[in-house]
Amino acid sequence: MTVAKTLLLAAALLGGVAAAAAEPPAAAAPLRLCADPANLPFSSNDPAAVRQGAPGLYVEIGQAVADALGRPMETVWSLSYFGKRNMRTTMLAGLCDFAVGLPAIPDFMGPAIIISRPILDLGYALVLPKGQAATLANLKGRRVAVQFASPPQSLLATHDEIHAVTVMDPEEGMRKLAAGEVDAAFLWAPTAGYVNHTQLNDRFDVVAVRGPQMQFQAAIGFARASRGLRDQVDAVLPGLAPRLHALIAKYAVAAAGDPVTLAASPAAAPAVAAVPAMAAAPRMVRTSDTGSVQGDPVQGKEIFNGTCAHCHGPDAIVEDRRINLRRLHHKYGDQMSEVFFTTVTHGRPDKGMPNWSAVFSHDDFVNILAYLRTVQEK
Ligand code: HEC
Repeated sequence: MTVAKTLLLAAALLGGVAAAAAEPPAAAAPLRLCADPANLPFSSNDPAAVRQGAPGLYVEIGQAVADALGRPMETVWSLSYFGKRNMRTTMLAGLCDFAVGLPAIPDFMGPAIIISRPILDLGYALVLPKGQAATLANLKGRRVAVQFASPPQSLLATHDEIHAVTVMDPEEGMRKLAAGEVDAAFLWAPTAGYVNHTQLNDRFDVVAVRGPQMQFQAAIGFARASRGLRDQVDAVLPGLAPRLHALIAKYAVAAAGDPVTLAASPAAAPAVAAVPAMAAAPRMVRTSDTGSVQGDPVQGKEIFNGTCAHCHGPDAIVEDRRINLRRLHHKYGDQMSEVFFTTVTHGRPDKGMPNWSAVFSHDDFVNILAYLRTVQEK
């Protein structure tokens, strides 16, 4: 480990000197890829994966880019390189030159990181038995695996007619699907597609789904100072398109075809008439904060355990304090009902809490709140 680290540092220094000296360098300095050692289908330093000629999509894209620039490639391994913190301690610290698969948004990590043109589409997909239509109507009454706190979970949470089964990661979702414990799955497509392809003989269709936070473009990222390198890479990317397509197919990370839109069926949103009343809701119930209980806690409990319990736990008992609704009064005191109404009618989409305003009526919310009041921690 120490030896390897020393070598990396030496390589980093040499690389820096050579890159500064000439562009492109005569004795080509290695192009150093920042990569996660345990992130298949994207990258792996597992000798078995390397032996099988499948070290990961990002490793192979990195190699294709280095080849096109006439430079050898070297891989600098660092766990979960996708994280911003990790970028800071690797690429921005000068230990490696480029990272494949960063989100193609100009403001990812502000001006510190610059990106290439987009190289691939990533996102969430429905995974279904072959030939089944990817529509909401087709999922009605079915058990569908969804990842905890993912955009698909938020989407399905507002569809009572679909039985969502929460899983912790896409691998678990694919295991349940293969074992027949669910009828379909709505998962992170790269992992689902890769497992389907490498372990399940492509038994399932993987269909990308359009929608808020469902699809992303990924690019190659560089430290701000490497603008010259970024421009070189941008210049060779168009010529690499056929090779990139072949690699994306090899790892089966992209769902086939254009993303489908899961249009809500009209029946999926009952009580729409109640929605306009929502805006006024927070103030209407303020008075009950410290006073008498409004609403029907028995009905509220039924809705809660039918819908909210998927994430907030049956009877609102859950390990994770962040989503423990028995602590609402403890956390917010007098503001409890205001926070409650704002949250249920707007959701916190970036945090995984759906907006319920098209699903439940104002009375339903009052009933749920009445139930939650009966279980608050003192
Ligand atoms: C798909 C998972 C999911 C479902 C289903 C869900 N929630 Fe949430 N909810 C969350 C998450 C995640 C948070 C925490 C968001 C955050 O960190 O700010 C949250 C937060 C909340 C909060 C604010 C908690 C606080 O401490 O600030 C309330 C209130 C709430 N949910 C009510 C409900 C109700 C009522 C239902 C059922 C109608 C429901 N939720 C269903 C995921 C869910």
